Amino acid sequence: MKTIEVCLTPELLHQHSIVEKVAVVVDVLRASSTMITAFAHGLERLMPVAYVEGCMALQRLDYLSAGERDGAKVEGFDFGNSPYDVMNGELKGKSLAMTTTNGTLAIEKSKSAKQLLIGAFLNLSALANRVKELDEDTLVLCAGWKGQMNLEDTLFAGALVAQLTNDFKIKGDSALAAQLLYENAQNDLYGVISQTSHAQRLNKLSADEDMRFCLKKDEYNVVPFLESEHLVIQSS
Ligand code: MLT
Repeated sequence: MKTIEVCLTPELLHQHSIVEKVAVVVDVLRASSTMITAFAHGLERLMPVAYVEGCMALQRLDYLSAGERDGAKVEGFDFGNSPYDVMNGELKGKSLAMTTTNGTLAIEKSKSAKQLLIGAFLNLSALANRVKELDEDTLVLCAGWKGQMNLEDTLFAGALVAQLTNDFKIKGDSALAAQLLYENAQNDLYGVISQTSHAQRLNKLSADEDMRFCLKKDEYNVVPFLESEHLVIQSS
């Protein structure tokens, strides 16, 4: 049986060997949720970029741009990091360059994985099915916040582990802890996550609606994956 493990922050990634694994990168609030939403609304490809300057360079090459620093939209970008910014059809068939404080950095650090997938509550079941199809040792990488773990990504990791326990062997206590936390919180995810530090940060930016949206389960069935330098989805 293949294994599932959880890395609670990119700072701990060196303790895992990622090269032979499928990596699932998650930043529930809000980068991975916004990416999934953009693809569900027609985005063709997304270049994740760790730094603002890289994103600006791609703007000059006709990419649309999206992203935030400390939650706020970067000046001069076309979109911020809200799922509501990317669901009005403007991205249909387009290329997007995106940079966020933690999410795109976590992607950058996972590029050596055998396959890199993007996860959030919005695509939970589609993602679990894809991970089962791939049937490889799998590592869930939580983007966290500036090197620290965060509860929302850990809860999502636990939700994914809970969906995979019949098919994968749990490896390591962080996967077990994530699953137990999720099982404890699943009936009131909003109540639990609204207490987190990032929820409070988002509230200052009036992004409570974003948070409610990002906690919806199975809203979409797209699973973005990294192909060469771009995130794409399987064409239907
Ligand atoms: C991040 O990458 O740190 C987040 O997506 C921040 C945010 O909520 O905009």
